[in-house]
Amino acid sequence: MLDKNIDLSTKRILVTGAAGFIGANLVMELMQRFPGCKVLGIDNVNNYYDVGIKEYRLDRIAEAAQVDAQFELVRGSIADRDIVDRVFDEFKPEVVVNLAAQAGVRYSIENPDAYMESNMIGFYNILEACRHSYDNSDGVQHLVYASSSSVYGNNKKIPYSVEDQVDNPVSLYAATKKSNELLAHAYSKLYGIPSTGLRFFTVYGPAGRPDMAYFGFTNKLIKGETIRIFNYGNCKRDFTFVDDIVKGIISVMQVAPAENETGARYKVYNIGNNDPVNLLDFVDILQQELVEAEVLPEDYDFEGHKELVPMQPGDVEITYADVTALEEDFGFKPSTSLREGLRAFARWYKEYYRI
Ligand SMILES: NC(=O)c1ccc[n+]([C@@H]2O[C@H](COP(=O)([O-])OP(=O)(O)OC[C@H]3O[C@@H](n4cnc5c(N)ncnc54)[C@H](O)[C@@H]3O)[C@@H](O)[C@H]2O)c1
Repeated sequence: MLDKNIDLSTKRILVTGAAGFIGANLVMELMQRFPGCKVLGIDNVNNYYDVGIKEYRLDRIAEAAQVDAQFELVRGSIADRDIVDRVFDEFKPEVVVNLAAQAGVRYSIENPDAYMESNMIGFYNILEACRHSYDNSDGVQHLVYASSSSVYGNNKKIPYSVEDQVDNPVSLYAATKKSNELLAHAYSKLYGIPSTGLRFFTVYGPAGRPDMAYFGFTNKLIKGETIRIFNYGNCKRDFTFVDDIVKGIISVMQVAPAENETGARYKVYNIGNNDPVNLLDFVDILQQELVEAEVLPEDYDFEGHKELVPMQPGDVEITYADVTALEEDFGFKPSTSLREGLRAFARWYKEYYRI
């Protein structure tokens, strides 16, 4: 296990993408566990998916604040250099967690601009601001940023390990995430910014992203529409419950990496459940939990609302995380079962949509 070298209890923490699924959960947990920390969020609250859910998450954050002014939100884009520089000048973050990004594999086929803007320009602005944070003060002690399991592309060797080659992305989204890791390495080496990239594996949970399969399936089933299961259901995913991801991020935030063999304070970890589940089994548990939570009736004709279809371009058959490094360095491994996680989602869904 690595020793903690950052005490979050009094830190100024910048979280980009704070109105997002993972960001909002992270902010709430940070405030709860470290009442003395101050969190500043940046989010452009864009309408890639229902803005109502982002506002709902921001309301939950406001309720979760332990003390006045523990959290503030700047509504703006990390692609706007002036906004990013102003935030760094005024707030002087000591720990930065970059989660703001245009997410989703399929949307990167339709709208590539959004990926270049948020994931490339936005991330570059964060790196530059971190670099200049050392000009007149102690500056940023640790930059933690979201990468993705999609960097593994169509790699055949499973489970995916951070030691594997990831030079063959199969979507623009994956290419931007791999680029983030490369840029972070260069900035860590050149300017001494301690940075850790986290490759998340299919994160799900209450108030999650409506563009993701489990949420989209639920919306469709409610409307009596047919759900399309890609690759005829022969897809395996390492579904990871959001609370586990947040625990993992917070563990990592407290350990700025030591210099590695390239002379950079740079590290990358997988965070995934390490237990891949077949999409059809996943849908089966989801159905059961939707009935259990009374989102759908017991006699719902699930079979009549399922269509098995081929693979989508850019998608991969199996994603599955080797989390050995995470366990060795932090003694941490995701532990929430799929049933528990989907139960929490189904209950939240019922309450949020007043079903
Ligand atoms: N959820 C997953 O399964 C998953 C898997 C792998 C990687 N990731 C990565 O984790 C991070 C968080 O993902 P999430 O699921 O919470 O997604 P999300 O879309 O819910 O959150 C991202 C947030 O960033 C904001 N944002 C986007 N572009 C911005 C910009 N230019 N400036 C400011 N804010 C901006 C959005 O409004 C959104 O609230 C992302 O970087 C994503 O790529 C997520």
